[in-house]
Amino acid sequence: MKFFIDTANIEQIKEAQDLGILDGVTTNPSLMAKEGIKGDENIKNHYKNICEIVDGDVSAEVISVDYEGMIKEGESLAALHPQITIKIPMIKDGVKAIKYFSDKGLKTNCTLVFSAGQALLAAKAGATYVSPFIGRLDDISSNGIELIAQIVDIYNYYGFKTEVLAASIRHTQHIIQCAEAGADVITAPLNAILGLLKHPLTDAGLEKFLADYHKLNG
Ligand code: G3P
Repeated sequence: MKFFIDTANIEQIKEAQDLGILDGVTTNPSLMAKEGIKGDENIKNHYKNICEIVDGDVSAEVISVDYEGMIKEGESLAALHPQITIKIPMIKDGVKAIKYFSDKGLKTNCTLVFSAGQALLAAKAGATYVSPFIGRLDDISSNGIELIAQIVDIYNYYGFKTEVLAASIRHTQHIIQCAEAGADVITAPLNAILGLLKHPLTDAGLEKFLADYHKLNG
């Protein structure tokens, strides 16, 4: 199971990378805006900086919503760095663009996926990753984790190579549920990843071990 961090924040990306468990990064226009990154050149430089920090795939999202625009933008993003994965929305022209990039051997991440049918189309088009948004489904009283399990089953049944990248993860328990559902990748905010570390018995046990050591050793 791969761990991606879902942020454009350089410090948080460095912290996750330092932990030694990071396999990649996902961004989106909202996450870039949150960091105040604006202007085409600044945005491109930011992607390049992220690629220099991590070893794995870095998803960079197109802004265009028409086929020609997505092709032009995607090619320009892919040319920035070999680690760039072109992130493309699940719309009709997006499916066509994914097929185009897939035929060219370029990596794609199909984003804004909310149903098994959409995931099936992304796989048929040859997407490297499909990104079902589990938190946003939970927000509307649907079940994001059930969708992950459903897509994993369908992909396994037919042997699709597209990796299920669970996105819109809001908390630590989502990560564990995605692992149980068989997601290939999770992308999560740093605090959700760090939450996996926590257990009160670990803290209490460590405190006791150290106290016992220091009783005898000063
Ligand atoms: O990876 C997609 C993610 O950034 C969306 O998360 O919390 O805005 O639904 P959220």
